[in-house]
Amino acid sequence: MTAQLSPIDKAKYVAARRAVEFVEDGMRVGLGTGSTAAWMVRCLGELIRDEGMKITGVATSTRTAKLAAEVGIPVKTLDEVRWLDLTIDGADEYDPNLNLIKGGGGALLQEKIVATASDQMIVIADLSKQVDTLGAYPLPVEVIPFGWQTTKALIEEMLSNLDVMGRNSSLRLNGTDPFRTDEGNFILDLHLRRIGNPTQLSLVLNQIPGVVENGLFLDICDVLVIGNADGTVEVRDINNGTVEHERIDINDTENLFVETGE
Ligand code: A5P
Repeated sequence: MTAQLSPIDKAKYVAARRAVEFVEDGMRVGLGTGSTAAWMVRCLGELIRDEGMKITGVATSTRTAKLAAEVGIPVKTLDEVRWLDLTIDGADEYDPNLNLIKGGGGALLQEKIVATASDQMIVIADLSKQVDTLGAYPLPVEVIPFGWQTTKALIEEMLSNLDVMGRNSSLRLNGTDPFRTDEGNFILDLHLRRIGNPTQLSLVLNQIPGVVENGLFLDICDVLVIGNADGTVEVRDINNGTVEHERIDINDTENLFVETGE
């Protein structure tokens, strides 16, 4: 089945395959959202089905919860589980310090809550997500619908005092309507191009009353698994300072996937 995958899907798939090797029997696992995380969910489903692994998943979005149920992962809420052994999730950008932009799929709030409630966060990505400095990808900010235009204006005003290259923001749409998060909120995408001081930006953004959370994930990621279309992966561990290169065998995956649905 993987022979029919596009190069980018192969890269995402091998990153996911390597990342689920961190999952041990009995673990409580945060399940990320997005096309890369969807591969991981399917890989976990395979481990449960074929190897009898027992895990409990906590989903970061309704669509991940749906996929997890489809592939046979028992899912509980974060309130039922309280704390997680690890979370595996994708990213829209990562920098050399493994700081991230997330929220391209609109699930940043639950993703950040779940990752923060985990002993370890493992990020799965391909090389297209790698940047020297965060900000080329528009930064998603979840805002309360009430007074969102005032919140948008406050954010843009605040940006004029910060080390960023662009200051425009746009309301994310779903067709002609505002995109709604799982919490019913809106997303503003900030077109910053370059974020000179992500820590300062994150703190200032979250002080604006209508802002619920922003998509900067700083000092949260412990391990980054980068997948490549040739089946190789790079595993960067920020805590140990190690970088390892491996090859994933992708010939034993018949019947595993048809579509990611993402
Ligand atoms: C979801 O809200 C995001 O944070 C995703 O994790 C991120 O957008 C990566 O998605 P892909 O794996 O689809 O690129």
